[in-house]
Amino acid sequence: MNQTRLPLEAIFGRSPRQNLPLAVQKMNTLPHVTGPCLWLLCVPDDQITEVAQELAAHKSQWHEAVVAHMSGLHTASALDVLRKKGASAMSFHPLQTFAAEAPAESLREIYIVMEGDPAALTLGEQLARLIGAKPRRISSEAKPTYHLAASIASNFLVTLMGISREVLAKIGFSEPDARTLMQTLVDGTTANLRNLSAGEALTGPVVRGDVHTVEQHLATLKDELAGLKPFYQLMAAETTRLAVQSERLSAEKAQSILAQILSETPS
Ligand SMILES: NC(=O)c1ccc[n+]([C@@H]2O[C@H](COP(=O)([O-])OP(=O)(O)OC[C@H]3O[C@@H](n4cnc5c(N)ncnc54)[C@H](OP(=O)(O)O)[C@@H]3O)[C@@H](O)[C@H]2O)c1
Repeated sequence: MNQTRLPLEAIFGRSPRQNLPLAVQKMNTLPHVTGPCLWLLCVPDDQITEVAQELAAHKSQWHEAVVAHMSGLHTASALDVLRKKGASAMSFHPLQTFAAEAPAESLREIYIVMEGDPAALTLGEQLARLIGAKPRRISSEAKPTYHLAASIASNFLVTLMGISREVLAKIGFSEPDARTLMQTLVDGTTANLRNLSAGEALTGPVVRGDVHTVEQHLATLKDELAGLKPFYQLMAAETTRLAVQSERLSAEKAQSILAQILSETPS
């Protein structure tokens, strides 16, 4: 483990943080920096420009400063107001999900995806390695598409598991029970995905061409679960597309499955 530490000058946030001695709640109480310094803006995406504007009014000297925000979507241009003051800017996106309090170890081995000014990126790459992460540069133009992919992989996976647990609740499983029951299945799926393409990792009735199993799923989606039918139809249609694309399902079988999925007749 890398034990190198960087001197920390201050932590700014609006809420009191009793356990952090360097925390300040008012921007005008932040120390004035005159030499090289790294400012990390770890605030929600919609707050980045506003906080950058507030910082621009701060009496620090910006010519040797590097400023970074953590957004996966926005580019370094969100920090233009500080660039105009002389700072180098970058977006520095940890490609990881941090729910609630996360230990520093959760940064290890992850990718930090960054774009921006050359001087900022050089420092960004050093910082990423210092915290045990892997730096990866990206173009500014690619960021919206990159963030779309990341949100699908992380956020929608959580939504999928939320729906699966909701379905189990209908047959009496408590939330923690449903969580435990499904976890090894999810672990197995992600382990397969680590080594295989999505098409290769696919198992289940769609890729097997088991039309009657799909029909039974649709029949189960009645009454209390009827609200989930559009979700199931969309996901099953996309799964069919993946199975055909990876040449594991014939066009004929795919037609039968799609006809079943899109049938308006209640099964
Ligand atoms: N969470 C993730 O999994 C994750 C992953 C990768 C990247 N990111 C990125 O990291 C950034 C922060 O996300 P988050 O999930 O950590 O957000 P968050 O928990 O909602 O907010 C982080 C902190 O921002 C502070 N803050 C909000 N508005 C502020 C303001 N006007 N001035 C000063 N501080 C302010 C809040 O503290 P106070 O209320 O005390 O001010 C809060 O502790 C975003 O750009 C996000 O896209 C998040």
